[in-house]
Amino acid sequence: MSKHRVSRRQFLNYTLTGVGGFMAAGMLMPMLRFAVDPVLEAAGGENYVATKQKVDDLTGKPVRLDFSYKQKDAWYESEVTDTAWVYKNDEGKIVALSPVCKHLGCTVDWNTSKDHPNQFFCPCHFGRYTKDGMNVKGTPPLKPLDSYDYKVKDGILYLGSAVPHKEA
Ligand code: FES
Repeated sequence: MSKHRVSRRQFLNYTLTGVGGFMAAGMLMPMLRFAVDPVLEAAGGENYVATKQKVDDLTGKPVRLDFSYKQKDAWYESEVTDTAWVYKNDEGKIVALSPVCKHLGCTVDWNTSKDHPNQFFCPCHFGRYTKDGMNVKGTPPLKPLDSYDYKVKDGILYLGSAVPHKEA
């Protein structure tokens, strides 16, 4: 006979603890997974959104381009519509500018100020930007407009994130 006999009471304690722990883990694991899964989910790298804009149709005149995509914010998924001002510059390079004014976030328009034609104009506090998105000195915005990363696939313009203007 072994000296370490397990009493009936101890056996019951071990069994109940084991079964209880197993059941608790079974209940907690799905909750834990639900709580942290979206946070741990891979960001998926840079996402580009297909627009309806054919690259061949772009000219030197900025056009307003609305585009939509699904956005997942942790557990909440929604459809977001963004806007870009797009055109081809003198070198034929595509420029895609964010319309969000860098002063207080109003929306800029192209060529809507009679006194300052061919500029982006913000009606809120009369902020102005040149065609390449640079803020005009002496107006409220202190930074250039953000510009979208982009790529071209099958002749269609895809837009990525809007990033701050890179100093030359
Ligand atoms: S928000 Fe555009 S100038 Fe103030």
